[in-house]
This record gives sequence, structure tokens and C-alpha cells, in this order.
Amino acid sequence: MTAPSQPLAGLAPPPERAPSILSLLLHPPSNMFQAFPRDAYEQPVFRPRRFPHLLAVVSDPDAVRRVMLDEVADFPRHPQSDEIFSACFGEGLLGVTGETWRRHRRILAPYFGPRSVAALAPVMTEAAGLWAERWAALPRGAKVDMAAEMKGVSLKIVSDTMFSSDAAELTELADGALSATQDGLKLGLPDALPLIGTLIRRRKYAWVRREFARFNAAVTGMIGERERDLTSAPPDLLTRLIAARDSEDGGGLTAQEVRDEVVTLFEAGHETVATALTWTWYLLAHHPAEEARLHAELDAVLGGRLPTADDVAALPYTRMVIEEAMRLFPPVPTIAARTPRTACEICGVPVRAGQRVFVSPWIIHRHRRLWDQPERFDPERFLPARSAGRPRFAYLPFGAGPRVCIGAGFAMMEATLVLAALAQRFRPRLVAGRPVRLRAQLTLAPIGGLAMVVEPR
Ligand code: HEM
Repeated sequence: MTAPSQPLAGLAPPPERAPSILSLLLHPPSNMFQAFPRDAYEQPVFRPRRFPHLLAVVSDPDAVRRVMLDEVADFPRHPQSDEIFSACFGEGLLGVTGETWRRHRRILAPYFGPRSVAALAPVMTEAAGLWAERWAALPRGAKVDMAAEMKGVSLKIVSDTMFSSDAAELTELADGALSATQDGLKLGLPDALPLIGTLIRRRKYAWVRREFARFNAAVTGMIGERERDLTSAPPDLLTRLIAARDSEDGGGLTAQEVRDEVVTLFEAGHETVATALTWTWYLLAHHPAEEARLHAELDAVLGGRLPTADDVAALPYTRMVIEEAMRLFPPVPTIAARTPRTACEICGVPVRAGQRVFVSPWIIHRHRRLWDQPERFDPERFLPARSAGRPRFAYLPFGAGPRVCIGAGFAMMEATLVLAALAQRFRPRLVAGRPVRLRAQLTLAPIGGLAMVVEPR
């Protein structure tokens, strides 16, 4: 069943030269990184040769630190990123800025700390165990779409941890809303034009709001039910958000803010983890030696039982496999554009006020100056001895600085438990004759899914 063909999808070295603008316009690549030449993976700051003021991609770790952390106030999110995130997520963490963002982040932070995440682990393990039973019941040789499988398990985990229910209707609505976000984030050239661009974008945002309306309404209904009887409500994220208080002003979140946070967490928290796991399976299927090492660790530590939060520390190789998969296939391949408030220089490259500045995990994680043989799948790069001396800002699947992913701990716990629970029983194999192609937008996905056969071990 396995069909390794070289080079693997998404693992080819970058092209020497960027395709011409004409060819990009006539045949826009589904994987936008095909438009970036080798130079982008070698320079500290890359700008397209013909349109140097269109965008700057910052990859030097010290410069990334400057944009994302040290001088973060001078590099706010680009106003057009703010517009689209606000249209999608309203008052949710991804949608707000300034003081409102700070307050929401303060209120939410305790629910994503290590202890809170560990308390959610049994729900994650239960979902993973259920998926293992589903796979065990599949007829021999049955094909599955691994991307859909991983989305299914992560949607179940996010809806169980947030609402203590399967919320099947919500998962469908969440899926539709996420597609709208992906489409809304696609920037066409007309969007950037002075007047007409504003009109085009306004229409797009109105459409995005309509796409979110049913999802929002369903979550509002759920919040209403909870509020009527908070005393006997389950101690899940929804109940905790309704009861949450700000440590500084003592106030809570309004019903609309709770709704927008729930929608945001639902959206930000499922496709990303699903994507990380999908590409992990893809890489393992092509790397039998690394897969065997993973199996050996799982057999030694778990011996056939389901993993718990306490096992995670004893599964370092499992973690490194996920880290390495997210290096090569970062679920969020490009972080939302930032922009300097005033003209400046980054690594000696002039950048205009208002110009788009991108920090791209995809490019940084494959940068020639930062990684040895960047296209090689090598989980042991993340061994402490081999990580020593690597700049912190050379690896940032979860972003960096104050807006770093609030769900990073949740995501790593979930990905580790799901991979451990499933990989100790199954060896998913790729289906021959199904070329894998990447779509890189807000997240990275295999176009048309990832056909695999789940073989028992
Ligand atoms: C492998 C999984 C995940 C990846 C790769 C990922 C990646 C990211 C990245 C790169 C950002 C920063 C965006 C920016 O700076 O513009 C971010 C922000 C965020 N993520 Fe995640 N994420 C993942 C899982 C999750 C989960 C599980 C949740 C919640 C349950 C979550 C909730 C959020 C939220 C709310 C933000 C906005 C934070 C803020 O602006 O303060 N993410 N994520």
C-alpha cells in the first residue's frame, strides 16, 4: 500500500527562482510557498525583487524577536488582518486588540495553564480511545481520509472539553465557519487597491459575518441554557467562562463575549491540532525507522493501555515526532501580518510604515541558516543536546510574544495523547496512486484529504 515517491509532497527544496508574476496570476499555486525562491530561505529578511514594498518576510531570529516581542507595540497586526479576524471572531481573543485583548487574555489564561490542561486530559484520552475502537471496527483494507479522521477526533475533543457534549450540530457549523475564515483571509490583488479594495473587503466581511451567524446563534442558545442553571452545570470551559472574573477589575465577560470566545476557541483549537496530526501520520508512513522507534517507546511506556497526562513526560520521542512534524508542516504556516507604525530598518532592509511584515513558521522552520538538512524528517533534532544553542525564535509553530497561542499546552497534550493512543495499535499506510498536494492558507491541508489504510499493528 505504501507508495513513497521522491521527493515527498511538501518536502521538495524551494525553487531557485520565483515564478513570474504572470505565471502566478495564470496558475496561482495552491501552496503559496511555491512562489518563494530559495533566497527567502537564506536571507534574514526577504522581499520580492520586483515588488520590494509589497511585503517583507522576516526570518532572522533576533529580528523575529524584535517584531513579535521586544518592539511588539511598534509592530501591531496589519489593519486588514484585524478587520478579517474581527469579522470572524468578534470579541473573541483572536478578534480583539489593545486593552480589550489584554483583559480577555487575563481572564482566559488560567484555563490554559498546565494544571487546567492536565485536568482535561481524561476527556482527550476518552475521545482517542473511542477513535481507536472506530478504527478497530473498520473492515480490513478500508480506506479513510486521515485529514477528516483527525478533524473528527479533534472536533470531538474541543466540543467535549468546552461543552461536555458531542454537539454534532455545532461541529458541522464550526466547519462551515472555518471555511469562511480561510476564504476571507485570501487576499487578492484587488483587495489592496485604495477605494475599490475597501468596498471589496467590506462585502467580504459582511459575507463572513453571515457565514458565522448560524454558528454564533447555536452557541448563544447553549450559553442561555447553561445560564439558567449554573449550579448543576458540568465544570467545562463554557461554565468556567460564564463564571470567570477578571483578576484586575473583578468583572466578568458579557454573554456576547463568552459566545465569541467559545467560537474562537472552537475554531482556533480544532483544525490546527488535526492538521498537526494529519501530517504526522503522513511523515511516519514514509519513515519506517522513526515509526518503529515511536512504537517501541509506546510499547515500553504504555504496554497496550490508554495514555494519561502522567505518561506524557515519559513519551519524549512521541513529543519529538510531533514537534518535527510541526516544523516541516506548521499548522499555521504564516502568522497574521504585522506592520511597522513608522518606517524602519530590519536587518538593514528598509521597511515602510504600513507595509506587510510576515513571520512565517514554514519559511523559518526550513531556513538554511537555522536548520541542517531542513527538508529531512529527523525528530531527534529536538533532543535537548541537539536543541542547545538553537535560537528560541527559530521554531515557532505557536507564534511568539504576547499573542503566542494560548492553547499551545492544550494542543501538545491533545496531539501526544491522540498519537500515543492510536499509534500503539495502528500503522496507517498511504494509499498508492493518490498524489498528495498541499493547500497553504490559514492552515496547511492536503487537497482532497489524505487517503490512508489503517492497518492494525
Ligand atoms: C497544533 C495546534 C495549534 C497551533 C499550531 C496553533 C498556532 C497558533 C498561532 C501561530 C497563533 C498566533 C497567531 C498570531 O500571533 O497572529 C495562535 C493563536 C491562538 N490560538 Fe492557537 N494553535 C494551535 C492550537 C490551539 C488550541 C488547541 C487552541 C484553543 C483551544 C488555540 C487557541 C488560540 C487562540 C485563542 C489564539 C489567539 C491568542 C491571542 O491572540 O491572544 N490554539 N495559535
